[in-house]
Amino acid sequence: MQTFFFIGKGGVGKTTISASFASGLAKKGLKTLIVSLDPAHNLGDALNKDVFGKVVKISDNLDATEVDIDRAIVEYLTEMSKKMKNTYKYLSVLNIDRYFDVLRNSPGIEEYVTLEAIRKFLETDYSAIVFDTPPTGITLRVFAMPRISVVWTNSLIDMRRRILSKRQMVENIKGPISDVLDGEEVKIPSKESEDPVMQELFTYKKDMVNLMERFSSEENYVSVVTMAEELAFAESKRIRDALRENNIKLRRIYLNKYLEIENPPRELLGKIEEQKRVVEKMRKEFNEVEIREVPLLTESPRGIEALISIYEKYLV
Ligand SMILES: Nc1ncnc2c1ncn2[C@@H]1O[C@H](COP(=O)(O)OP(=O)(O)O)[C@@H](O)[C@H]1O
Ligand SMILES: [Mg+2]
Repeated sequence: MQTFFFIGKGGVGKTTISASFASGLAKKGLKTLIVSLDPAHNLGDALNKDVFGKVVKISDNLDATEVDIDRAIVEYLTEMSKKMKNTYKYLSVLNIDRYFDVLRNSPGIEEYVTLEAIRKFLETDYSAIVFDTPPTGITLRVFAMPRISVVWTNSLIDMRRRILSKRQMVENIKGPISDVLDGEEVKIPSKESEDPVMQELFTYKKDMVNLMERFSSEENYVSVVTMAEELAFAESKRIRDALRENNIKLRRIYLNKYLEIENPPRELLGKIEEQKRVVEKMRKEFNEVEIREVPLLTESPRGIEALISIYEKYLV
């Protein structure tokens, strides 16, 4: 499976470029899914089809969806709550439902759920998945999350080991530890292999390591969509550096809405001069990255035909 992420600010053309790219891959015969992870969805508008909260077939090889992040947050917390109740059966005081509203609105939850959504899509059997991402800051935090989670999980695993080893010490003296729960005797685990908390931590760590590997793999293509303006230069550098910290390569920069005008009017001369300057600087600074100009079209591209034509003309 190949994965593609298109990142950048709102309005630069992320949706247009990623939808064109996905349509082009599908036309070439790859079973392709395009996923919008941007809460400000407009993939449906580009495709002329309602794809919110469901996977919809667009053409022979192309499916599309806009992830309903609010629903995904509720689902994630519900799943979490069930898991906690199962894992901590003997801790009846732990009632996650009481904290549901706090958790739903807590900082960072959107990044977690976005990462979880990505992880689930990676388990499908598409040959290519194209992600139209949320604004840059969120996307970069999502990319950083697997690495940070592994560090966290390692500390939690250490802590859990210490707890289990204390329990084993007690067991060596007093025999198996148990508690009575709803009139039933429940053994309190002391071995890693029978401790659901430890198993949960191992599974979670494995998932995060897999995501880290996928994000840094050769099959993952991360591109920036921006415009040929001075600000884009600094922005692209920041993105490249942030990606690098997570061992992710920046593959392409798309300079969208590029002005290509014969005999431009005087009012546009400055803008066109700026474009030229920015492209030159970019080629120098980003010599390992492919830079593509996508012209400003006379009409906002809508529908699969228009998108495929953008792919064939500018993105291949
Ligand atoms: N190369 C282009 N030429 C003309 N219009 C474009 C081009 N790229 C994007 N647009 C239009 O600009 C607007 C913003 O693009 P969009 O892809 O929705 O950006 P984003 O997803 O980054 O917010 C849309 O109306 C889109 O149709
Ligand atoms: Mg968009």
